[in-house]
This record gives sequence, C-alpha cells and structure tokens, in this order.
Amino acid sequence: MIEFVPLDEPLGAVVTDLDIDAALSDSEFTKGLADALLKHSVLIFRGSDIAPAELVALGRAFGELEILPEPDKRHPDHPEIFNLTNVKPDGDIAEFDDSQSVFLRGTQRWHTDSSFREIPALCTMLYAVEVTKQGGQTEFADMRAALAQLSDEAKSEIEQLSLVHSYEYSRANNPGRMDPMSDEERAKYPPVEHPWVRTHADGTQSLYMGGHASHIVGRDEAESRRRFAEIEDGLVANDLVYQHRWRAHDLVVWDNRTTLHRLLPYDIANERRVMRRITVAGTERVR
Ligand SMILES: [Fe+2]
Repeated sequence: MIEFVPLDEPLGAVVTDLDIDAALSDSEFTKGLADALLKHSVLIFRGSDIAPAELVALGRAFGELEILPEPDKRHPDHPEIFNLTNVKPDGDIAEFDDSQSVFLRGTQRWHTDSSFREIPALCTMLYAVEVTKQGGQTEFADMRAALAQLSDEAKSEIEQLSLVHSYEYSRANNPGRMDPMSDEERAKYPPVEHPWVRTHADGTQSLYMGGHASHIVGRDEAESRRRFAEIEDGLVANDLVYQHRWRAHDLVVWDNRTTLHRLLPYDIANERRVMRRITVAGTERVR
C-alpha cells in the first residue's frame, strides 16, 4: 500500500522511492491519486528515476494531458512533455533577455497555471533533470488557509466578487519584455471571469487568484492590485508556504485549484536548470 506522508509544512505530502511501474498497476494507488491531490495539494515523489514514458503514464492517471502550443519546447518522443529549461536546444544557456529566460522569469510571480482559461489546468507535474546549486526553489501557497485567515468581514466581501484573468494582461506585465499577443492569440485567449472564492468537490473553499488576474470585476486596476498584494505579500509571513528545494529526480505534482506557486530567482544566465513539465487538463469550470 503506497502512502503519502504529510510533510511537517503548511501543505504537501511525500512518497519516497516509488516504483512507478508497480504503482501504476496498483489500481488502489491510481484511484487514490485524485483524493490525495485534493487533500494534500502538493504531492512529492522523491528519489525515483522516472523515464519520460513513465512520467506521461503517471500524468494520465490524474487525467487528460494538455499538449502545449510550442512544438520546439516539446519532448521529441512525448509531445505531452514540455521542456521547461533555460538550456537551448544547442546546449548553451539562454541569455537573460532571451525569450526563453523571459518566460521563465515570469513564473517568479505567484500564479496558478492557465487560470486565464475558461477551464484551467487541474494539476501540473514537474520533474527535475538538472537542478541549480543556488536558488530556483519552487514555493507553494495554501490558498484554502489564505481564505480561512481573512477576517469575517473581508471573507463575506470577497465571496461576492469575481476576478478577470487575462493572458494578455499577465504577458504585458511580465518582468522582461515578451512579444505582444497576435490577433489570433487574443481571439484564442479572451479574458475570463472566475469567482475569487473557489469551491471544491470536497466542499472546501480557497482563494483563486494570482498573476493572470488583472482586476476585480467592477473595481479599478489600482485598487485590485492593492487587494491582491495584501494577500499575496502575506503568504510567506503568515506561514502558508512550502518551499521545495529541488534535487535531481524529484517529481512534484501540485493542485492548481487550491494553491498558488512561484519560482524563486536563480542565476538564470549561468546556472543550468532542466525540468520536464506535464500539465493535466481541468475538467470543470471554476465555481
Ligand atoms: Fe506555473
């Protein structure tokens, strides 16, 4: 019986030395994954060498996998795997202002993956191939606890509000210049509205926000940014964050419904960081 052991941290649970093949043929394990994800928010598989095909198979145990639009960043044999790295195909490290690095630097803001979609991603899996010596940790924030910590007054106000999430907005506000969106991209990703308080299948609720959220519906951007910052700036101070220090062969799966995450800075123009990412598609609208 494979068990996730909760970390002595605000969120997360770990399994060590998992035999992926054996685990995937254990129906009790695969059936329990959805519940484990909802319960622990961050699942860590530590110390197992996971081949790309096994990574894809494990991803499928969580749901349908997204195939991302950039063909040049896909794994050659497994299009479901996105190479999240500052190393270029020729083996050199991308420069600080190269589009590859600029994109990665954008993930240093608190966010939840693809919240700009009508049906955002369920969970994201990140497998470490090469890790940095310094920096480059990923932080995860428990947004159920962030909601629970609000005053009753703030909670009852926020419950009534929705946020606009916009890819165009987050791209325009990326630290480092990204190309403006094409008309085609704009048509594909129009801004969407999601309730600020998200309700989950087990009846729990969390704050659903982050770097793709441009503003509160009916409020101006300045007020919205201030309200977002009040919450996001307090996540670490209020002890709602688990910081994952990567070792090679770590696999971390996080629930995009209940957490925010961010990359901590590292020497992106000099240190190699090679990760394989899989995104599991969501199945339901935010409610
Ligand atoms: Fe992300």
